[in-house]
Amino acid sequence: MKDFLDQLAKKNLVAIPTETVYGLAGDATEDIAVAKIFSLKKRPNFNPLIIHVHSLEQAKCYGIFNEEAEALAKHFWYPSQNPYPLTLVLPLQKNTNLSKLALSGLKTIALRIPFHPITLKLLREYNKPLAAPSANISHQLSPTKSEHVRKNFPTLPILEGDQCIVGIESTIIDCSDTTTSILRHGLITKEKIEHILGKKITIAKSHTTIKAPGFLKKHYSPLTPLQLNAVDYQTSEALLGFGNMECTLNLSPSGDLSEAARNLFSFLHQLDQGQYKKIVIAPIPNTGIGIAINDKLNRAISKE
Ligand code: TXA
Ligand code: MG
Repeated sequence: MKDFLDQLAKKNLVAIPTETVYGLAGDATEDIAVAKIFSLKKRPNFNPLIIHVHSLEQAKCYGIFNEEAEALAKHFWYPSQNPYPLTLVLPLQKNTNLSKLALSGLKTIALRIPFHPITLKLLREYNKPLAAPSANISHQLSPTKSEHVRKNFPTLPILEGDQCIVGIESTIIDCSDTTTSILRHGLITKEKIEHILGKKITIAKSHTTIKAPGFLKKHYSPLTPLQLNAVDYQTSEALLGFGNMECTLNLSPSGDLSEAARNLFSFLHQLDQGQYKKIVIAPIPNTGIGIAINDKLNRAISKE
């Protein structure tokens, strides 16, 4: 742990495990560290980073919480009894010491408490916020195991934390405006948010806003071509299955969508070693976390 704290203090980057995917973390108050994140990931610097904190109290130093944001944070963020991966976009507090680069100059901030014991310990001991996008090259597959991170960034120190239990990125909710909206689908569904808030929320239209650049374009892509909603496949192709079927790898033989989310990136990494001409994917039901899975797959095949 000490080595990792030292690296962060020296404005260097480390990979951190979270419940969703591995993050590429640097001190969010240091432009030099943040610049290294953008450069290593080859991420355009207009695409802001999520700021990771250890507590609601710490989050309040950086974001302005309205009643709804507070209710969602209390319900989903550690130390809630049942933490779930949620990122809140909020108006930025005045006079923070955060790197403006991390926020891409916006007046809003995306905040989240990752639910992973080792990373929570790191955040507590460092006691400064960490900027951490997913630890992959921009547009490519997200990392859910340390070996995926190592493949992209062989010399990066990685805080080892086993396979990520959720497997896809946090749900992003925008509470910076009068209308609360969902910017990115994840394990927490729109319906679940509506249930807690006791009202309907909107889905941000990808083409109308630069609010969540990652919401709109090509993302999460393997190098091998992908095809969705496959019914059959050739011998030169891999079939990524779902439910009871013959296939190369099965996201969940029993048809469990949470299991499918957990396996999604890991199985795509396995099939994307150049051994197949194409990866074809069986239909995934578009309900619950299946909405987030299909959203990622649709972005993965996007040509934009
Ligand atoms: O599960 C996760 O959220 C992971 C782990 C590592 O915590 N992180 C992650 O970060 O997915 P990243 O950088 O891959 O995705 C962050 C998304 C981007 O789509 C970015 O555009 C959006 O959050 N974002 C960041 N700040 C924002 C803001 N102020 N307003 C709207 N969207 C924002
Ligand atoms: Mg990402």
